[in-house]
Amino acid sequence: MNLKYVAQTFDGSGYDLYLRLRMGAEDKVSCGVTQEFVVKQLLDVNLNIAERWRALFSLRNMKGPVSREALIKAMRDDSSLLAHEAAFALGQMQDVEAIPALRAVLEDVHSCASIVRHEAAEALGAIGEPEAIALLKKALVLDPAPEVRETCELALRRIEQADASTADEDADQSPYLSVDPAAAAPSSSSIADLRKILLDEKQGMYERYGAMFALRNRGGPEAVESIVAALGCTSALLRHEVAYVLGQLQDKSSTSALMTTLRDAREHPMVRHEAAEALGSIGDSESVALLKTYREDSEPLVSQSCEVALNVLDYELQGNSLEFLYLETPVA
Ligand SMILES: [Fe+2]
Ligand SMILES: [Fe+2]
Repeated sequence: MNLKYVAQTFDGSGYDLYLRLRMGAEDKVSCGVTQEFVVKQLLDVNLNIAERWRALFSLRNMKGPVSREALIKAMRDDSSLLAHEAAFALGQMQDVEAIPALRAVLEDVHSCASIVRHEAAEALGAIGEPEAIALLKKALVLDPAPEVRETCELALRRIEQADASTADEDADQSPYLSVDPAAAAPSSSSIADLRKILLDEKQGMYERYGAMFALRNRGGPEAVESIVAALGCTSALLRHEVAYVLGQLQDKSSTSALMTTLRDAREHPMVRHEAAEALGSIGDSESVALLKTYREDSEPLVSQSCEVALNVLDYELQGNSLEFLYLETPVA
């Protein structure tokens, strides 16, 4: 199991309670010592990438201005892995105060990697404020990376849809508590129909994403197999989301396909990164050796993802429960 996929379940008051239990001192939580400690971890460039990654997702759950500002700084980190996860976390927090920083990242084609700009565009869609529309329309045409342009298309549709949403807004909420980049297709659709839409290269990206999320929400071998089949689709953006969703599903039947994706040096690093993190999430023993091999990959996005995945797996193999991944005890 991987923090990235489940951390949000510790949202709100339950998470506050957890922190208090973990710290054994309510005052430490309320006076912000813990949060400051985690911020320091996130921004410490000398710290192991896995610890910084865990700090990042802890801050996502804590929310609030301190977390937001730290994540905004992290979007400019030299590690594209960390920088794009920071943008992802800001989107999941749906904090409107993060919009100016996300806009600046999306516009900065010179110093922000395409995966970071992609995640900034997706975050703007997740926040759903119409003020992002003009910029998303501009990047939809001008951004040099296809994965960013495709993300802008999704984000624009999501914002339009959020604007026109009706009373059944909650009907398609993700059971994984993630803020998805597209609404799931109606749950009345058959698996065969959803598979057809997902794999149809002529369909719009929003519809294909919607079909995939509906399949994920349905679950079961047939749905998982349909999602795995989409790892062969043309769009790298779609393939990376497929790998992410397989990480959420944690179904061992997808391990072999994800291993093939990680091994494929010609595959887009963004897709290999999601495959590595998904393998960490599934935690199948056969993937450990592979993650160790690709921890040495020449592409930092891939090698760092393997490092993070192995770190989480190692922690669990020692018999520790996920909760103890959150924080180290602050030094007094
Ligand atoms: Fe992404
Ligand atoms: Fe990612």
